[in-house]
Amino acid sequence: MNHLVAPSILTANFADLQKEITMLNQSEADWIHVDVMDGMFVPNISFGFPVIKSIKQYAQKPLDVHLMIVDPDRYLEDFKAAGADGITVHLEACTHLNRTIQRIKELGCRAGVAINPHTPAALLADIIAEVDLVLVMSVNPGFGGQKFIQNTYKKIRDVKELSSKNNPHLYIEIDGGVDTTNIAGLVQAGANVLVAGNAVFSAANPAGMISQLKHS
Ligand code: DX5
Ligand code: ZN
Repeated sequence: MNHLVAPSILTANFADLQKEITMLNQSEADWIHVDVMDGMFVPNISFGFPVIKSIKQYAQKPLDVHLMIVDPDRYLEDFKAAGADGITVHLEACTHLNRTIQRIKELGCRAGVAINPHTPAALLADIIAEVDLVLVMSVNPGFGGQKFIQNTYKKIRDVKELSSKNNPHLYIEIDGGVDTTNIAGLVQAGANVLVAGNAVFSAANPAGMISQLKHS
């Protein structure tokens, strides 16, 4: 399959979010990546339900919600109600990950699990058949605009190997420091969904950059 591009609105202009969403609607973006941070799992706080609901009002593309929060089970229904199409939780933040994944599916959302840069792909072995998506963090989560971690290439190949055996239709999503210089190599390693925040929203022509990322 051709890779998907999911711009992260974390780096968007929050004072003019409607304009940003309109730009994404008109662009070649496939999903809109929505980063939720609680100041506990990560050292930063982003936004919550009212903002997601406002985005949903205008978005014509699926909302790919990435929860960087502790104990996400507490809020799954609320994220669904706010407009999430996909919900990704962190392996490191879930005590009963299998239950959490089943609940996300019961809600009718695409179910994803994210792993931090220090977490080996091998820890996905007993959950990979249950999920729709694995998100590989290619920076330490918490902030946009950070430097891409090179070990991610190996991690993608490890996830790809696991998925070939257990879940061939898996989305393998890469999040952090993705730009035109590394996207082709990431796709070659096995990635099929690429998140980009800073690369898109700091570009002079964000829609043009999305197109470049889509066709890299
Ligand atoms: C980081 C977030 C990312 C971030 C990516 O914690 O999960 O989605 O917004 O941003 P860039 O592309 O700027 O690294
Ligand atoms: Zn993210």
